[in-house]
Amino acid sequence: MTEARPKHEKSVFIRTYGCQMNVYDSERMVGLLKPLGYGPAETPETADLVILNTCHIREKAAEKVYSELGRLKKIKTAKSERGEEMSIAVAGCVAQAEGAEIIARAPQVDIVVGPQAFHRLPELLARAARGRGDILETDFAVEEKFDRLAARVADGPTAFLTIQEGCDKFCTFCVVPYTRGAEVSRPVDAIVAEARLLAAQGVREVTLLGQNVNAWRSTAPAGCGNDAQWGLGELCRHLALIGGIDRIRFTTSHPRDMDEGLIDALGEEEKLMPYLHLPVQSGADNVLKAMNRGHTAEHYVRLIERIRAVRPDIAISGDFIVGFPGETNKDFEATLALVEEIGYASAYSFKYSRRPGTPGAAMPKQVPEAEKDERLTRLQALLDTQRRGFNEAQIGKKMPVLLEKTGRHEDQLIGRSPYLQSVHVSAPKSMLGLIASVSIIGVTPNALAGALTKEGEAAA
Ligand code: SAH
Ligand code: SF4
Ligand code: F3S
Repeated sequence: MTEARPKHEKSVFIRTYGCQMNVYDSERMVGLLKPLGYGPAETPETADLVILNTCHIREKAAEKVYSELGRLKKIKTAKSERGEEMSIAVAGCVAQAEGAEIIARAPQVDIVVGPQAFHRLPELLARAARGRGDILETDFAVEEKFDRLAARVADGPTAFLTIQEGCDKFCTFCVVPYTRGAEVSRPVDAIVAEARLLAAQGVREVTLLGQNVNAWRSTAPAGCGNDAQWGLGELCRHLALIGGIDRIRFTTSHPRDMDEGLIDALGEEEKLMPYLHLPVQSGADNVLKAMNRGHTAEHYVRLIERIRAVRPDIAISGDFIVGFPGETNKDFEATLALVEEIGYASAYSFKYSRRPGTPGAAMPKQVPEAEKDERLTRLQALLDTQRRGFNEAQIGKKMPVLLEKTGRHEDQLIGRSPYLQSVHVSAPKSMLGLIASVSIIGVTPNALAGALTKEGEAAA
């Protein structure tokens, strides 16, 4: 047993960019640093260690890191003039992709650590303290990482749980296969153990994470079907057996990996929430082909039809890229037509960003920025109308809302509907963490307004 150290000897500030996987990783970093005496710092100015957990997906995301490093340099210099020390670590996908460049451009950085090596932070900090110069750690050590992470500490009634890492799809626009490495699935037992630990700490909803979460595969656990290969559908049904876990979500799925087992589970397993994030990127087959997505627009539309046949109320969400090289106006119109046909409850849309080292960056017929801007504005207007329509259609309905946090007003709690909409409810703090019965009474630009039903009030 290691000796218990005094609480919060030092403090760490983590700024997280990018996707939910980075949010999960940041939470695990906090857990990893706790036994070393690190507690949370409110601001970089008051921290002994600042970690930027970065995202490389689009140029803007990567640029933000360098401007933040400029700000941190000033803080570090001011502190050192007062005789105080501050270490700076860059983690995440920019660290993986541009580690050497970070060290060259930003000498104030002490440690650069990639997303599959951050479990080594304790050793790296020790090395940095011994003044071992530039520290760059970008191994792809996924299995070692999960084995070495400290026990999970929950923070509220919802939690992310990474079940799959990396990506083998190599869409021609995307950096993820290079920054996160090859697809690796965590074994069932490890996932179940983490989910149980979360449930024991009051977590009611888990969101299973992976860049291609529905590519998750693993051998069934002992006693569950003699070495059968399980997919995400079986895993979700298995996790649904854990007492305390009432809601299960997963993100992000790929249309090529939506198998029957998962579609059936969406239709049958009540704990699986009726919300599916299934990016399509474009509605034009030639663009999908150039993107190496491996399916057609028709395939996607039929897939959504099959899913809606088993779960008619499911909310569909997606990602779109406009202005991929070679995308014509006609191709873009095909994307708008696909959006019209599907009807999205929510969506993310982006202008194509040319990423160094990806095949798309070298493709001819890059689309001018002004054209991309115009297409994005049109697409977002349509998606926004659909989102508002979906939200307004909930008015008058009664639904279970998981009350997650306090709102800005007295006696206001904020929760999530089954469709992942934010719901503002007037309810006492004592109901935090409960799933309450709520009537939807209105919509605001970014949320639903709800009121506790009679049963909901009885639970208060
Ligand atoms: N694994 C997920 C997505 C991960 S990245 C999937 O396959 O769907 C999240 C989203 O960022 C992508 O779906 C895509 O819409 C967008 N994206 C990725 N690379 C991009 C680029 N180079 N330019 C613009 N958007 C990009
Ligand atoms: Fe990127 Fe495509 Fe992999 Fe998604 S499936 S992470 S978009 S390469
Ligand atoms: Fe960004 Fe890396 Fe996630 S590039 S989107 S943080 S996997």
